[in-house]
Amino acid sequence: MSFHVVEQAEPRLNRSELAVPGSQTKLFEKAAKSAADVIFLDLEDAVAPDDKEQARKNVIQAINDIDWGNKTLSVRINGLDTHYMYRDVVDVLEQAGERLDLIMIPKVGTASDVYAVDMLATQIEAAKGRRKRIGFELIIETALGMQNINAIAGASKRNQSLHFGVADYAASTKAKTTNIGGANPDYAVLADKQGEAPRDIYWGDMWHYAIARMVVAARANGLRPIDGPFGDFSDPDGYRAAAKRAAALGCEGKWAIHPSQIALANEVMSPSEAEITQARRILQAMDEAAKAGRGAVSLDGKLIDYASIRQAQVLVKKAEQIAAQ
Ligand code: GLV
Ligand code: MG
Repeated sequence: MSFHVVEQAEPRLNRSELAVPGSQTKLFEKAAKSAADVIFLDLEDAVAPDDKEQARKNVIQAINDIDWGNKTLSVRINGLDTHYMYRDVVDVLEQAGERLDLIMIPKVGTASDVYAVDMLATQIEAAKGRRKRIGFELIIETALGMQNINAIAGASKRNQSLHFGVADYAASTKAKTTNIGGANPDYAVLADKQGEAPRDIYWGDMWHYAIARMVVAARANGLRPIDGPFGDFSDPDGYRAAAKRAAALGCEGKWAIHPSQIALANEVMSPSEAEITQARRILQAMDEAAKAGRGAVSLDGKLIDYASIRQAQVLVKKAEQIAAQ
């Protein structure tokens, strides 16, 4: 390990993160009773300009009045380039009670964006005597944000997670897409000619670079990497495949923009019984190896060593976290 110790953000289960528009009050109670680990009440892009002020009031009232159980509760504020943003932070932090856990900052472009909201939140917490320090979720969804992602990830002690906002990212980079967060048939490899045989086409994942880069920036700063939306909520298989790709790269959660996506995210982002059993077997085999004075052993014909222990420990810890929920 490096001499530099990466401080880990407050641990939270973040397998599914449900987006709830702040203007749609009838959805609030349902969201509170859902199986989502995290809920964000949205003041940003799911709310029309004319509804912004009412949505802010709705969200404050909902945080104070609804029983949110053991959910992590967040509010997505408007971007720093709008005139709504300062009042989102001031009104929400001054008027919503201690039940609120996080503020989600969209379209973060530079570390200074985080610094600015941190400054505001710090002043309000001190002035109002708030006891719980609000954490930050940061959406990386612009070319500028992706370019500055490392500095952004390390910009505040409040930072807890990075999120890949694929829809705005596509808009910002001018990427050609077909479905929010989905695969694109144009992003494919055509196999070489082999005589007259029909040529295979291999679809690629056009979001691979962005998600992988976010995972590295998040993990290097002790934050949770979370994959963003999948727009076609009538395609559970497509959602599951996208979530699996993100999980394979290290993401530990994915947004749900429709209640039907919550169970899918929880399923993909939870270790399976078989994985947990295998992790426990690895830990046991390594324990026995250590007692016998050996650093590496084979299990089921495969090498396991200290790196395998660390992977197995991560998995078992996640299973315990889920069981404790
Ligand atoms: C989320 O905000 C996105 O733009 O995908
Ligand atoms: Mg967005």
